[in-house]
Amino acid sequence: MLRRLPRSRRIPAIACAPSPRHRSDSSSSMSSSSSCAPLADVFAASVAETSRVPITKVAHEIWRRQRREPGDDYVDLTVGHAKDTVVLARMANEGEGGGRVFGFDIQNIHQASANLKSELSPSEYGAVELHEMCHSLIQDVLPPAPESRVAIVVGNLGYLPGAESDKTVKTQPETTIVALRQAAALLRPGGIISLLCYVGHEGGALEHQSVLKEAERLQDSGSYSFYHFDRSPLCPKLVIVQKNCVN
Ligand SMILES: C[S@@+](CC[C@H](N)C(=O)[O-])C[C@H]1O[C@@H](n2cnc3c(N)ncnc32)[C@H](O)[C@@H]1O
Repeated sequence: MLRRLPRSRRIPAIACAPSPRHRSDSSSSMSSSSSCAPLADVFAASVAETSRVPITKVAHEIWRRQRREPGDDYVDLTVGHAKDTVVLARMANEGEGGGRVFGFDIQNIHQASANLKSELSPSEYGAVELHEMCHSLIQDVLPPAPESRVAIVVGNLGYLPGAESDKTVKTQPETTIVALRQAAALLRPGGIISLLCYVGHEGGALEHQSVLKEAERLQDSGSYSFYHFDRSPLCPKLVIVQKNCVN
């Protein structure tokens, strides 16, 4: 399904205080997870097992290792060519299925829809709603929790790759942070937000720092934990925020 809605609206910048308490990559063994398990062991195992695997694949592996429940919803904040949306749509259809996938991008949405149609089964494709709009407006689309049960939100930040793409159209810290905040409010307990930050393009390092600060702020609220996968200075950085489980 393809929905056309207004583009971005102006969002004020947000100031956040840094905190040193994030969890960085380390090695550890994989543990069994309950339906709402903290991500620490899953994350560490993925990192340890995938040192030569592209970071996008590490992210996919972390999503797959998340315990999912029937009726869970999924969000792709940056659909682009829809490669990540394909992964989410397949997850939503596994088992009893019933989950929905909400995808957002400010461009390329018809091509993304065509890509999804050719990659997915009719039932997988039917679970996806694409919205041509800024991801800072996701709360205008998804009903608030607990009506939305969002298990995984993903964002592959930066610009659309490819020879033909306009590299000046890229994610911006201000709207990325608003999307991160809104996504955090929609997560079910145990749900995750997975943001891949590219630091090699102009503005990318600033966006990564903004994402880290917001992740720290969420963690300081006591309701979330965050994890930072940083392989080397120029590699893309993976930031994962998880809504803490309720005991
Ligand atoms: C790195 S690409 C995403 C790649 C995509 N995940 C894939 O599998 O092909 C980043 C995308 O973010 C989109 N984007 C930039 N600003 C946006 C915004 N404010 N809201 C939604 N999407 C945005 C760009 O148009 C671009 O398609």
